[in-house]
Amino acid sequence: MTKSERTPMLPQADKVGWSASVNGRAISKSVESNAVLLDVLRDYVGTLGVKRGCDMGTCGCCAVLVDGVPRLSCLTHAQEVDGADITTVEGLAEGAHLAPLQETFTTYGGSQCGFCTPGFLVVAEALLQSNDNPTDEEIKSAIEGNLCRCTGYQPIVDSIRAAAEILRTGEALCDSTQPQSDPHPGFKGD
Ligand code: FES
Ligand code: FES
Repeated sequence: MTKSERTPMLPQADKVGWSASVNGRAISKSVESNAVLLDVLRDYVGTLGVKRGCDMGTCGCCAVLVDGVPRLSCLTHAQEVDGADITTVEGLAEGAHLAPLQETFTTYGGSQCGFCTPGFLVVAEALLQSNDNPTDEEIKSAIEGNLCRCTGYQPIVDSIRAAAEILRTGEALCDSTQPQSDPHPGFKGD
């Protein structure tokens, strides 16, 4: 049997057209008909901020906004969202300026190793777009599908609450929005 006569164990899926607006940019690609959105965003669009954690819908690292609604891209068939408006973590900043959420995650220790952070940021962005004064319970409910190994979660809740205050008041971080607790306990520096 020659190489060309061998039957592949997994047949290659046909390529189909896929179009979307990703972070405001019109994208049109030819992708495998069975591709999930996570693979299309990472492999064809190049938005590597979308992270593959569990690949089975349990960690939230792969979350993106589809028409403003958080979706797990590892469980979303790309063809299902053909033509949609998609926002990844790369789309949150405005030009060279970080979004308030990105600033507060840095200031409050909401991001430590950072692997989970893109998922938390897009989920929090969706929350704040619909509710600019969420209670801690509402914040915890919004992020309940996201796992973090590093922070213990309270710094993430603090980060989201502080970003909401910035969005409401239009003011940058000030004394009243500085962290109440040390976001990096035990680290004393030199
Ligand atoms: S990679 Fe999608 S939920 Fe974990
Ligand atoms: S910051 Fe490391 S997993 Fe969340």
